[in-house]
Amino acid sequence: MFDLIVKGGIAVTPNGTESADIGIRSGRIAAIGSLDAGQAEQAIDAKGLHVLPGVIDTQVHFREPGMEHKEDLSTGTAAAALGGVVAIFDMPNTKPSTTTPEALKEKLKRAQGRAWVDHAFYLGASPDNASQLGQWESLPGCAGVKVFMGSSTGSLLVDDKQVLLQVARTGKRRMAVHAEDEARLKERRHLVDGDKVSPALHPLWRDEETARLATAHLLEIARSANRLVHVLHVTTAQEMELLAQYRDIASVEVTPQHLTLAAPECYERLGTYAQMNPPIREARHREALWQAVRQGLVDCLGSDHAPHTREEKDKPYPQSPSGMPGVQTLVPLMLDHVNAGRLSLERFSDLTSAGPARLFGLAAKGRIALGYDADLTLVDLKAKKTITNQWIASRCGWTPFDGMQVTGWPTATLVRGSVVMFEGQLQGLPSGQPLRFSGC
Ligand code: DOR
Repeated sequence: MFDLIVKGGIAVTPNGTESADIGIRSGRIAAIGSLDAGQAEQAIDAKGLHVLPGVIDTQVHFREPGMEHKEDLSTGTAAAALGGVVAIFDMPNTKPSTTTPEALKEKLKRAQGRAWVDHAFYLGASPDNASQLGQWESLPGCAGVKVFMGSSTGSLLVDDKQVLLQVARTGKRRMAVHAEDEARLKERRHLVDGDKVSPALHPLWRDEETARLATAHLLEIARSANRLVHVLHVTTAQEMELLAQYRDIASVEVTPQHLTLAAPECYERLGTYAQMNPPIREARHREALWQAVRQGLVDCLGSDHAPHTREEKDKPYPQSPSGMPGVQTLVPLMLDHVNAGRLSLERFSDLTSAGPARLFGLAAKGRIALGYDADLTLVDLKAKKTITNQWIASRCGWTPFDGMQVTGWPTATLVRGSVVMFEGQLQGLPSGQPLRFSGC
């Protein structure tokens, strides 16, 4: 007997993409193959659907505590579930920043009974905690250490080379890094000073050299400290070229936004709503990111879900904050790219399930395999839908993709065997749990 059978779908499994029923017992995958629906208390008819290992978003900013007017753990994880996402890694630039074990514990406590999906929280590196991060990075529910090499939203910053080296030397887990060079950002800030500055200048201020410099420096530090690093939201052709030479030590994330939007068109159409760090750049960089996806250089996707209210975004550039929501639109956008032939469904699944599990050592997640957590994202590859602001559950209430027609849509989200979203509606009560990491 199973608790639930997902019946008649086409499953993306380690064995290939094949017709298979999936039997679930006690939150785990208990059978894969041809199963009789009569053997289960509940069945989901997945005929015509593809069954993916649950999609994991390894970069979101859910704003709690301190900025709940933008988002909180309840609304952010609801948006995740509605978008077909089963687990998230939340970033530390909240108020206060997550820089101590107490702050981490507080987030875990807040998530209990309110999070719709599984979750882990990053500890933010700062000059004050640089020597202690090694002891703290393996605490329960911790995704590891996050470093901001350049200033973005919030006050977290490690721009001193010695401190960065110290942070790299004190821990063992893969260290996630926002790579923009702070000194160059300061030098070039005058380019966006003054009245009536256009947000189209954002990628000029935070130019490709700003990103390349920081990534090159980070890779040297990683090599000398012998520390694994994860370069978040890579945006340039130059960085991809460099990263290809450091495959033993560095992993690579790109965002769906950087794969979808391009300058200058996005700034003309969306203004400050297209402003994020690092910036959306010209189409030639977008093409370099796609090439890196096709050639296996990109390890995972993160949405960098960074909600700000419309009121905040409507401030004149550059007072407008950087960031856009993305956790709910990751799956539909990427399925649209699958349908357009830009990547295969299997590659998408590797980037969002097996990839994150492999990089971060997620215990028993990221594959449709016997004994693994029954995390599943059911998708209708043929569904034609329009992404709208009305659909967005994030407290910010908008998406840069409002009005975009896509082919491919998530129809159900299962977290450890519980159906948390079915046909666009949240189901049951929030029961997300802290993620577990092998070896921690
Ligand atoms: O655009 C961004 N927004 N980039 C970041 O690094 C931070 C994020 C935020 O938290 O708003």
